[in-house]
Amino acid sequence: MHRVVLKPSGLVFYAGPGDDLLSAAARAGVDVPAACRNGVCEICEARLMAGPVLNTRNQQKILVSERLMLCRSQALGDLELEINAVMAAGNNQPRKFQAKVVDVRSISHDVYRVELQLPRRRELSFHAGQYLSVNLPDAEPCYFSIASSPAEQNIELHIQATPDWVSAQKVIDALTAGGEVTLELPHGKACLATVPDKPMLLVAAGTGFAQMKSLVDYLRSTDYNQPVRLFWGVRRHEDMYLRSLAQQWQQEWPPFTFLPVVGDDEDNDWGGHHDQLVGAVLASGMDWGNVEVHASGSPTMVYTLMDALIDAGLPEQAFFSDVLEYAPRK
Ligand code: FES
Repeated sequence: MHRVVLKPSGLVFYAGPGDDLLSAAARAGVDVPAACRNGVCEICEARLMAGPVLNTRNQQKILVSERLMLCRSQALGDLELEINAVMAAGNNQPRKFQAKVVDVRSISHDVYRVELQLPRRRELSFHAGQYLSVNLPDAEPCYFSIASSPAEQNIELHIQATPDWVSAQKVIDALTAGGEVTLELPHGKACLATVPDKPMLLVAAGTGFAQMKSLVDYLRSTDYNQPVRLFWGVRRHEDMYLRSLAQQWQQEWPPFTFLPVVGDDEDNDWGGHHDQLVGAVLASGMDWGNVEVHASGSPTMVYTLMDALIDAGLPEQAFFSDVLEYAPRK
């Protein structure tokens, strides 16, 4: 396999003999803009910075500093390519989009599944694990994790709303009324722009599951085959609103293990739920020196987990959560 480094993003993927570079990038989860896949549209253009490449259209070697189309190029050794259209994780700039409401349905006593369609979908590039804001007129933006993977056409959200949670309920009311809504996306650096080179530990509390769903859907679409463990903590059984989906992933995808943590199973005092979830994660006995952790939930849960895992030997740079960005510790 030949190592291909993309500049300036620094993303890396591997290409075998006979692989076109566009397919090899896609298998590693690297999102390269493409259309014709036949060397005609020139959307997948890059510049060769170093290494030997074959142009499969004319069977000629490409010279350093010449441009190439990834869909019609094969690596003959390790390569360095310049491609500005590929972003490092979380480096894509947020923009406003008008989205059409396709579906809003209740999937538990207080969670709604929302599906949105972007007419300008091809102009949107985001990474698995990022989030968006719903911008209603005369209201503060409301932030939600994107639950779908970047490969999917529509955007999926899981919104927890109750009548006393006014801002989320307003969003659900507006979406239920149909029509269009203004979104701003993508946001967040706790995301994946390529497959990690180590096992994954995903830890979600409540609707933090949405972010994990985006990551799992993304990893399943690549050739990633290292162990993935998902801990999902909820207060009561009825709060685990897509338990059957997580169980289905476990049946269908061998690297994946689902580990539900339910407050009701121990006692009804959810005041201890952070310790319960963190305790279950620690007891899993993973190799903390060789795992990448993504966590989604309240700041208390995320920081309790981060401190416990770092104490157990996890390198700080292997822990990812949006909480570190939007609720930094003083
Ligand atoms: S996708 Fe059109 S030239 Fe590669």
